[in-house]
Amino acid sequence: MATLKFKDSSLYKQENTAAPIEDYVYSRHVEDFEMQLKGNNNLIGIAVFGIGRAGTIHLTYLLRNPRVKVLYIVEQDKNKWNSIKSYWNVNDEVKFLDFDHADEVYKDKNVRAVIVTSPTKTHEDIVTKALDHDKAVFCEKPIAENIEKTRKCFEKAKQIGQPLLTAFNRRFDAAFSSVKERVGKGDVGHVNVIKTTSRDSPLPGIEYLKVSGGIFHDSAVHNIDTLIWILREYPIKVSVAASANIPEIAEIGDFDTIVILFTFPSGTLGIIDMCRYSNYGYDQRLEVFGFKGMLKVENQQPLQGVESRSENNRVCPIYYSFASRFQNSYVNEMDHFLNVVDGQEKLKVDYQDVLAVSKIASACEEAAKTGKIVEIHWDSKDLPF
Ligand SMILES: NC(=O)c1ccc[n+]([C@@H]2O[C@H](COP(=O)([O-])OP(=O)(O)OC[C@H]3O[C@@H](n4cnc5c(N)ncnc54)[C@H](O)[C@@H]3O)[C@@H](O)[C@H]2O)c1
Repeated sequence: MATLKFKDSSLYKQENTAAPIEDYVYSRHVEDFEMQLKGNNNLIGIAVFGIGRAGTIHLTYLLRNPRVKVLYIVEQDKNKWNSIKSYWNVNDEVKFLDFDHADEVYKDKNVRAVIVTSPTKTHEDIVTKALDHDKAVFCEKPIAENIEKTRKCFEKAKQIGQPLLTAFNRRFDAAFSSVKERVGKGDVGHVNVIKTTSRDSPLPGIEYLKVSGGIFHDSAVHNIDTLIWILREYPIKVSVAASANIPEIAEIGDFDTIVILFTFPSGTLGIIDMCRYSNYGYDQRLEVFGFKGMLKVENQQPLQGVESRSENNRVCPIYYSFASRFQNSYVNEMDHFLNVVDGQEKLKVDYQDVLAVSKIASACEEAAKTGKIVEIHWDSKDLPF
């Protein structure tokens, strides 16, 4: 009886709670349900290069996206062509090419944007040619194999006036974005420590690792980007402890387990704890600590339940791989790119941050190889803030 006074006459006479903006999957659903796209509604002609692990994620979304017409699939392995066609019911309007015949893509004026998800060593060439032919470019990290080549790609993009998006997908994850926003509002005060844990699952194939560019440029770049994106400052000092516990990874001169310690100009300490394999799933956590409190992103699970029985308590397993843990961030990231192409949004991944990430990854590599603390110097022109 005591709470009777709080009872509303009817919920139907009140406004429903609006969907939170972080639930962008729901926003996409509403567009699909109402069959009304927000924005300019221009159909965007697309070519996708490389249908492997990353390419499959993006192609899957693009093929069912009403804003997009996939015009070309450039895939070097011709054995995949028929499987892709039949699996996705791809019609004959989509042209399949190998890399040697990719000029057709660049020359085709109907191709408005190019998606680069081929191996890292092919990126720079595709990005450069696409920009030279006035296309917008979405490129999986990294854009090129070193900072000079990356800088040239961005200079070209600026000169041509086309967007070049580096696919740092954690920036488009709801949980990571929320921490960034709250740190920006001062919710933990000055950040004393920012820490990411990043352990891969499943173990990436050795053939992939051989051409990946090494753990710092292939994998740690995501975490380095997370740190500088949240803090809005670049580190000035780094030390690294690195091991190769997997013999095949040692043989190719790479590391599988690294711990990176950064010092930032404001006194913040940054830690990246990374491994190429975790047997309990794709372990991706973030913690930000200041004197006003702590913000955390915990692992996410396909099943949220907790099993409690007398003999044991069991928490359900976490997501197994990037494809599942970050699936919504890939959708959000691609939507952002399409919005940029369509003139509705500005690029959210600043070119100066991308260059800084490359420079910091190289400093980490040097620190790992020499065992020394490496200082990182910045010119004021390198800093976006
Ligand atoms: N953001 C992320 O979460 C994420 C995850 C995985 C990979 N990646 C990045 O995506 C890129 C691809 O990685 P992956 O794991 O998908 O590799 P992958 O080896 O699984 O796939 C690469 C595909 O490209 C094809 N290919 C090779 N050379 C080509 C060329 N010249 N033109 C067109 N296609 C070509 C291969 O046949 C293969 O199908 C890498 O740069 C990697 O760093 C990003």
